[in-house]
Amino acid sequence: MKVIKVFFAGLLLLPLTSCVQETTKKGDEAIERKVESILSRMTLEEKIGQMNQISSYGNIGDMSNLIKKGEVGSILNEVDPVRINALQRIAMEESRLGIPLLMARDVIHGFKTIFPIPLGQAASFNPQIVKDGARIAAIEASSVGIRWTFAPMIDIARDPRWGRIAEGCGEDTYLTSVMGAAMVEGFQGDSLNSPTSIAACPKHFVGYGAAEGGRDYNSTFIPERRLRNVYLPPFEAAVKAGATTFMTSFNDNDGVPSTGNTFILKDVLRREWGFDGIVVSDWASASEMINHGFAADSKEVAMKSVNAGVDMEMVSYTFVKELPGLIKEGKVKESTVNDAVRNILRIKYRLGLFDNPYVDEKQHVLYAPSHLEAARQAAVESAILLKNDKDVLPLQASVRTVAVVGPMANAPYEQLGTWVFDGEKARTQTPLSAIREMLGDRVQVIYEPGLAYSREKNPAGVAKAVAAAGRADVILAFVGEESILSGEAHCLADLNLQGDQGTLIAALAKTGKPVVTVVMAGRPLTIGKEVEVSAAVLYAFHPGTMGGPAIADLLWGRAVPSGKTPVTFPKMVGQIPVYYAHNNTGRPATRTETLLNDIPVEAGQTSLGNTSFYMDAGFDPLFPFGYGLSYTTFEYSNVKLSSATLKREDVLTVTFDLENTGRREGTEIAQLYVQDKVGSVTRPVKELKRFTRVTLKPGEKKNVSFELPVSELAFWNIDMARVVEAGDFGLWVAADSQSGEEVFFKVTD
Ligand code: NOJ
Repeated sequence: MKVIKVFFAGLLLLPLTSCVQETTKKGDEAIERKVESILSRMTLEEKIGQMNQISSYGNIGDMSNLIKKGEVGSILNEVDPVRINALQRIAMEESRLGIPLLMARDVIHGFKTIFPIPLGQAASFNPQIVKDGARIAAIEASSVGIRWTFAPMIDIARDPRWGRIAEGCGEDTYLTSVMGAAMVEGFQGDSLNSPTSIAACPKHFVGYGAAEGGRDYNSTFIPERRLRNVYLPPFEAAVKAGATTFMTSFNDNDGVPSTGNTFILKDVLRREWGFDGIVVSDWASASEMINHGFAADSKEVAMKSVNAGVDMEMVSYTFVKELPGLIKEGKVKESTVNDAVRNILRIKYRLGLFDNPYVDEKQHVLYAPSHLEAARQAAVESAILLKNDKDVLPLQASVRTVAVVGPMANAPYEQLGTWVFDGEKARTQTPLSAIREMLGDRVQVIYEPGLAYSREKNPAGVAKAVAAAGRADVILAFVGEESILSGEAHCLADLNLQGDQGTLIAALAKTGKPVVTVVMAGRPLTIGKEVEVSAAVLYAFHPGTMGGPAIADLLWGRAVPSGKTPVTFPKMVGQIPVYYAHNNTGRPATRTETLLNDIPVEAGQTSLGNTSFYMDAGFDPLFPFGYGLSYTTFEYSNVKLSSATLKREDVLTVTFDLENTGRREGTEIAQLYVQDKVGSVTRPVKELKRFTRVTLKPGEKKNVSFELPVSELAFWNIDMARVVEAGDFGLWVAADSQSGEEVFFKVTD
């Protein structure tokens, strides 16, 4: 039996970061001197100009005057390297001080080679694959001159109605912290001033994912303790990983829009975490403070944003217009503007832009074979096997004819997912093309999509697909969401499959042939009915450029599914918010509650028991957080703790045996959850604290260990202090957030 040790990705980085810090400190001192030197030569207008970000007008002439006057610090959405160089040349050679522009773009899950949407990547529970994906995105984007991406999005999202859940890592604070840090490291590379490094921008600071009712841009109400325990840690982890920029969010939390929120931007980000990079507002989130009713006019917008700690304004142009007057009136101090400009220049220096402002116009590293291979592997690891009755998957050699149906089987644009500005559908490999290529003449493929796109209602098309499916041994049904149905402003109140897709699956199931349903979507959908009638369900999210080959590999067993749900799948929308790390309540559900159809007529008021559940949906979700099957099976046993009683400075070692009890090699994502039993404030029933991917051959057993410093049990308590409170803890090592046997330990004073 082998012993393998598992370290927390973030912990592994700690020694590294501190030695990086040592070397960068010296470089930083030199940079600080240069920053001061330029700052001392800048006019007020030039300073304010650095704080202005415009979206490319497309036409260089229109922008050149502004750049010459020093009225622009950054441009977003310009991706033509020739134009990027031309604009940069104006800044370097024709503006008075020759300060380079910072060219930005939303490179969210790939530039040209598109990786699975971030929610899909999170399902891999593999920070390395996420880091590699971000590195590749940076290499491709920087090869056309982009040096700043607005990613990672690390908003905790517990409401799949919110379209932007696709862009983040799901509901969990720890998983999002690990994945977000990995993305920051991938984008920024080993050294920020390498020409292939791009500045990362953790967003949206903060709480945006808790938008009321899952409606984008909506208000949030997150009290400070929850903010600190749940929403802030991924951002703190991103700062620790070296993130150089931050973006404010659109929401007002408890009445204060983030773009005007001194507490989060100054007290937390700058003072507590020591962030010294750029804070940029989101697109017009500064001027939208007028709509919020937080600022009366553009003058108040500029005043409140800058005084709160925003350094750069994205597109709404109030800084350039209003700051000179505000400084004259003493409503904004020039020293505040100086600090903002310092932050901006510092990052431009760290990126090496002063020395190396131009991009090679002919060397573009796009769609490299190694990039496509990494995207394929990421898509493999992002897919979650939700059901596999009678081992219908992987498909056996006895399957001679397959029917490929459904609107997502051959939808190259749709499978790329949201936030794809630069990826091209012509380069996308769909499941249909991959299956045909993989099978050659060995298996007959009957293709009849039935529906042309996910929202289509077309009973005749459904009937055609069903007829075609009748001729096959197995039906492969590709359903889900078009890419436009998730992402910014694309929220939904109904999470059932759109259009006639539900009808299609039901009709296919009636043929009696096994239906393998593959879902490609931007969020968890309420697919209970489809799961029930399908023999197998593979949830692939929007898998990106290489989704097709990845899915074909998984269906035919050239790869084995390993993904786990990064977010709880609700049975129905009315259960939302539904997430595993909830508090227990005074009357927790017992799961033995009487459900709607079993309630006797004229039942007495208290006869159902008084617990916290829905009479129609019960208590449990469709699939819990952390859930996913494999083509093999795993058994956990022999969970041991290094000690049952620990001090705050101790490190708890948890060991357990993990055995592959099936007949295939497979990878299991083992998870460690903890519950703080009694606190000065109530604590979640479980919190993920560690995870690891373990690959085992059939019959192989490994002893795996997790190291968990007791200090990581700290939380923001009744006194709003981050402490580990002494007392009893429960601990589970398990395959998901709902299984595993509880073991106990104590933390003592
Ligand atoms: C608005 C979005 O909220 C943000 O995420 C994005 O980075 C900016 N627009 C820039 O496109």
